[in-house]
Amino acid sequence: MELKDLRVEYRENPLGLDIKKPRFSWKLVSEEKNVMQTAYRIFVTKEGKTVWDSGEQDSSSSVLIEYNGLELDPRTLYQVQVEVWDNKGNWAIAKGTFETGLLKGTNFSADWITHDFPADETACPVFTKEFKVKKEIEKVRIYATALGVYEITINGKKVGDTYFAPGWTNYHQRIQYQTYQADELLQEKNTMEITVGNGWYKGIFGFTCTPNHYGDRVSVLAEVHITYVDGTMEIVKTDESWNVTTGKIRSSEIYMGETIDSCYKNENFSSVLPMSFDKERIIGQESEPVRITTKLPAKELIVTPKGEKVIDFGQNLTGFVELKITGKIGQIITIRHAEVLDKDGNFYPETLRQAISIDQFVCNGEEQTFLPHFTFHGFRYIAVEGLEEINLENFTACVLHTQMEETGTFTSSNPLVNQLYSNILWSQRGNFLDIPTDCPQRDERLGWTGDAQVFAGTAAFNMNVASFFTKWLHDLASEQTEEFGVPHVIPNILGNQDGAAAWSDAAVIIPWVIYQTYGDVRVLEEQYESMKGWVDYISAHCGTNGLWQKGFQYGDWLGLDKEEGSTERTGATDKYLVANAFYAYSTNLVSKAAYVLDEHEDGQKYDQLYQKIKKAFNEEYITASGRMVSETQTGCVLALYFDLADVKYRERILKTLEINIANHKNHLTTGFVGTPYLLPALSENNLHDLAGTLFLKEDYPSWLYAVKKGATTIWERWNSILPNGDFDTSGMNSLNHYAYGSIGEWMYRKLAGINQLEPGYKKISIKPQFIKGITSVEASFNSVYGEIKSAWICRNQKILVDVVIPANTTALLYLPEKENPLEVGSGSYHFEYETETNLERARFSMDSTLKEILDEPVALQILNQYAPEMMNHPMIEFAYQLSISEILATAPGETETLFKMVIDSLNRTVITI
Ligand code: BGC
Repeated sequence: MELKDLRVEYRENPLGLDIKKPRFSWKLVSEEKNVMQTAYRIFVTKEGKTVWDSGEQDSSSSVLIEYNGLELDPRTLYQVQVEVWDNKGNWAIAKGTFETGLLKGTNFSADWITHDFPADETACPVFTKEFKVKKEIEKVRIYATALGVYEITINGKKVGDTYFAPGWTNYHQRIQYQTYQADELLQEKNTMEITVGNGWYKGIFGFTCTPNHYGDRVSVLAEVHITYVDGTMEIVKTDESWNVTTGKIRSSEIYMGETIDSCYKNENFSSVLPMSFDKERIIGQESEPVRITTKLPAKELIVTPKGEKVIDFGQNLTGFVELKITGKIGQIITIRHAEVLDKDGNFYPETLRQAISIDQFVCNGEEQTFLPHFTFHGFRYIAVEGLEEINLENFTACVLHTQMEETGTFTSSNPLVNQLYSNILWSQRGNFLDIPTDCPQRDERLGWTGDAQVFAGTAAFNMNVASFFTKWLHDLASEQTEEFGVPHVIPNILGNQDGAAAWSDAAVIIPWVIYQTYGDVRVLEEQYESMKGWVDYISAHCGTNGLWQKGFQYGDWLGLDKEEGSTERTGATDKYLVANAFYAYSTNLVSKAAYVLDEHEDGQKYDQLYQKIKKAFNEEYITASGRMVSETQTGCVLALYFDLADVKYRERILKTLEINIANHKNHLTTGFVGTPYLLPALSENNLHDLAGTLFLKEDYPSWLYAVKKGATTIWERWNSILPNGDFDTSGMNSLNHYAYGSIGEWMYRKLAGINQLEPGYKKISIKPQFIKGITSVEASFNSVYGEIKSAWICRNQKILVDVVIPANTTALLYLPEKENPLEVGSGSYHFEYETETNLERARFSMDSTLKEILDEPVALQILNQYAPEMMNHPMIEFAYQLSISEILATAPGETETLFKMVIDSLNRTVITI
C-alpha cells in the first residue's frame, strides 16, 4: 500500500495558504483487494519542531481532516507527514508541505498606490520601482493585489504564470491577494513593474456596457519579501517612492479587447498617489488561479465569400490568440473574434453583441510574440486584418480558465455522444474563468446563479470544483441580504433585485453538491446561514397558503413549450409552480444540512416546513385526481424528481409526462430548469428506455441536434442555430452556455452508473443502465478517495463489465440483468456473461421520413409487392419530407400496418448485414 496525493485544502504543497485550520487529505493506493485504512497519524512541524501531532487515530477518515495544532504563523513553511495503517497489516507514509500567506489583509505593510492620469486615458498604468539586492538570496515571495487586474514583471520577466489576478470577488467586501515565488528573478539591480488593467473593477461590464462598477481608478498593493542566506530580510513595498507611467498596452477591456503598441515608449514618469482601500477586505486566494491550460494550433485559413481572411481553430473556446510575427515598424494587425460562420460561410460576430472583442498589435520591426494580458474572448474563428500573407503557424489559440483538476472521463460507442461530452467539457472550461459565467463571449460573462446551479452536478464530475465554488459561494453569502435574498448574478453588478427561484437556490443546492461530491462539511458550515437565509427569505414572501406566489420569476427559462410565435422566454410551466418546487427542494436540503451539522432543532424545523410546502404544493398545483396544473414536461418532472407529488398522484403524472413526450414525437421541450432533471426523472421511474430515446434524438430539439450542426460547445438555446442554418435572432444567442450540458450528470450516473451512497463516495454504487443505441461506455471519476471506474460492453450476446473501486471505500455493484447487487471492497473487477439484449439501434422508426425509407431499395421492393398502387399515388412526392407518423396522421389504418412491416423488415436487413 502506498499513500498518494497528499493534499492541503485540495492543493499540493500550497504556497500562500490563508486558512487558519487547513485540512489534509490523502489517497491509499494498493494492489490488494478490500483495503481499508484502520488508523492514521498526522505530524505538522515548523523548522523541525512539532506544532501538531494528531496522535494515532483509529479511523478510516482520509479526507479533509482538520489541523488542530498551535496557531499558524504567517509566511511560514510547515512540513506535513501522514502515516497510515491498513487492514492488511501495511503501513505507509507521505510527506508534503504548505506555506502560509499573510493570514490577515492587515498584515500588509505596503500602501495602496494609484495615479492621477486624466479620466479619458485608456492606457494601462505601469507602476515601477528600482531596487538593489546586495546579499545572497535564500527565498523571495511577492504578495500582491490590485483594484483592477494586474501583472508583475521583474527585470522584464513575468512573475508567475497566472492571469486575471486578483480574480473577481465582491470587492465591496472581499478582494484576494496572490502569493508568488520569485526566488530566481532578482539580480543585483532590479526593475519591478506592475501593470494594471481595468478588469472587472473599473472596466466596461454588464449588458449595459458601462464602466466603473467598483471604482474609477485602478490601484495596486504589493510587497516583495526577500530572505537572505544570512537570515536577515528586507521588504520592498508599494509606497510613495514608486513611479507611474503608461506602457505598451494602450487600452484593454475584457469585452472590447486589447491594443498593444510595441513601438510606444513613454519616458514620462510621474509620482504615484496614495489610495485608501480597507485592508480588512483583503483575503488570500481561495480558488485555483486562471492559467493558459492548453494551446491549440490554427486549423484552416478560409477566405470568406465577403473576402474576410478567417482562421478556424476547430474549437469554440475562451482565451486569446498568440501571434508570432516579424512585422514592419508601425504595422497594425487586427484580430476580430467570432464563435461561428453564418450559413454562407461569412464571419458572424453577432453572438458577441456589444462586446466587440478586437485585439490590435502594432509591430516594431523585430521578431515578436504578441499576447494580450487583460482581456479574453469566446471564439472559434478569428478574422485577421493588416497582413498580406497569413501563415497559420504564426497563430495559436491560448485556452484560459481556472485551472481545476479534471476528474471525469466518458467515452461510448456513439461518436455523437462523445462529441456531446466534449462539448460539455469545453463549455465548462470556457465558463469557469474565476467565476462561473453564463457565457464567455458577449456583453455579459456574469456569474448567473441559475446557470451555475443547474450545471454544478455535472461540473463536479468533470473537474474538482470544490475551491472554485467555495470562493464563489463566499461571495454569494457576502452579497445576500434579508431584504432582497440572493442576487441573480454573483458578484452582483446588476443592483438590487428580489431573489428568483432556481437562480437564488444556488445558495442551497451548490453547497450540497460540494458536500455530496467531496464530503466537505466545512462548505456546509460556512454557507449554513446563507442556505437558511435563502429559505427564510422565501418563507417571508409566502402568502397565507404557505406558497411563494408573487414577484419576478425566470420560470423554466428558454423552455420551448410556449405557444407558437411567443417571444416570452420563461417557458409554459406555471412560474410559481417552479418557484414552489424549488422552495420545497431547498428547504429539504437545508433540513438535511442541519442534521449533518448536528443542528437537530433546525433539522426538524426545516423538515416540518418542507412537509408543509409539499402539502400546499399538492393542493395548489395538482388536482384531486392527479392532474398537474401545468401538464408540461418540466411541471411533471419537478413534481416527480423533487418527490413533491403525493404517492397517489405519481402514476398519473408520469403518464402525463409520457404523453407529453409522445406528443412531441419523443422530443424534449424543457428549459434551463427542467432539463437537468428530465432524463433522471424518466430513468428513476421505469422509463429509462424513453430517456435513452430522448437522449439519442438527432433532430431538433435535442442535444445531438446541436452536435450534428457542428457544435463544439453547448448552446444557450436548443434553437441557437435553426435547421435551415439561420441563427436565432432574439438578441440572446450564445454558442457557449453550459446550462444544457447538465445532461452530463445523467451520463455519469445512469449510463456509466457511478453514484455516491455516502458523501465523498466513501460508499459507492455502480449501476450502469443500458440504452438502445449505445453498445459500450467507459467512464471514470477521480474521487477524493481515488479513481472510480465503470466500463461496460454489450455486444454479440455478451455483457462485459469492468469496475475499479478505490482503496478505503466500499461499493455495491449492480450488474446489468443480474438480480442482486454485489457488495465489494476496493479493487478491480471484471465480469463477463451471456445476454439476449441487443443494443444496436434500429435505423428506421416511425419518425423516419418517407424519403429515408424509400432511399432503401428493399423498401421499394416490399411496397411494390404489397401496395403497388401506393407507388403511383400523386401525393407521394409531396409527402417525401414528412415522417411516417406525420403521414399516418392523415392516412387509413391499413397503411400503418404496411409501414410497420416495411420498417421492421428494413431494420432486420440492416442487422443481418
Ligand atoms: C443569461 C442567462 C441567465 C439569464 C437569466 C441571460 O442573459 O445569459 O444564462 O441565466 O439571462 O435571465
